[in-house]
Amino acid sequence: MIEATASAPAKLILCGEHAVVYGRPAIALPLGDVRATAQVAPGAPGAGLWFAAPDLGGAWGYDAEPDNPLSELAMATLRQIGAADQDLTITLSSAIPIASGMGSGAAIGTALVRALSAACGHSLAVEQVAALVYESERRYHGTPSGIDNTVVAHERAIWYQRRWAEGRRPGAADRPETAPAVLPPIIEPVTIGAPLTLVIGDTGVRSATRLPVGRVRERWLADPPTYEARFDALGAIVAQVRAALAAGDPAAIGPLLDENQRLLAEIGVSSPELENLIAAARSAGALGAKLSGAGWGGVMLALVAPERQPAVAEALREAGAAHVLHTTITVG
Ligand code: PMV
Repeated sequence: MIEATASAPAKLILCGEHAVVYGRPAIALPLGDVRATAQVAPGAPGAGLWFAAPDLGGAWGYDAEPDNPLSELAMATLRQIGAADQDLTITLSSAIPIASGMGSGAAIGTALVRALSAACGHSLAVEQVAALVYESERRYHGTPSGIDNTVVAHERAIWYQRRWAEGRRPGAADRPETAPAVLPPIIEPVTIGAPLTLVIGDTGVRSATRLPVGRVRERWLADPPTYEARFDALGAIVAQVRAALAAGDPAAIGPLLDENQRLLAEIGVSSPELENLIAAARSAGALGAKLSGAGWGGVMLALVAPERQPAVAEALREAGAAHVLHTTITVG
């Protein structure tokens, strides 16, 4: 056992959230300069696992809180690498706002899995890290598509699409016993032909992912044709964004993000706070703007020409954003 520190980035969904749950593609980006960190050190003999997470609600021991999601993820990781009986002190910290659509849970989980495996001298493949974190997210967030844990573990821009057996997606009439089997998702690198400057505004409204995801599900079940058509339209936008990204054409991406936002509002996951920030970004000259993540709160993103970045950031602050970040997605 050695001391080890590992980190993982925040993420943004550029386009395609919600429809991705229903088998359409989405594009996600890592935010390399906003990170969660886990540090693992040998603990006192017989102490078991101890967690200290000042930004995330304090300190606890595994024995007292075995059902804590981070306790469970740590134990699942140690079991997978054959090192379950350890005395470890695990310190977690994160600069990522919680429940804001920036993937804080996936990033903390990924940093934890990476640090534990490094401390035990065990190297896990990216897919194994992503699978451990997915399992943890699935238990606590309902039916995640898997895009968050995947982009965070791969740490590069990805195209993500779920797949099911028999070439079909589960329909509204499928019960668990008749639904087609889940196949591994399509995960492809997305080519970025020219740098992308993004400004991110946090509404400050915390919203659990499973609530808007659950509402969309109810609406889909009530009216499958309408929702399938909206999901198809969202998937088509994502394909166009991918082509424009590869061509290095940010001006073509802006209107596609606006159209993505219009459809997200139509499926009922926007909010007055998000619309307020989106309008402010557009008025200040953004090329396009939309919510990012599950919605009803959390963050929005604006695509901007580099010289407009300060003005759009200022407009978001004036419109009441709780935090404003900016990032440049580099060519690759
Ligand atoms: O975890 P969030 O808030 O970034 O939202 C995830 C995106 C959804 O498409 C709404 C849900 C999912 O599991 O893909």
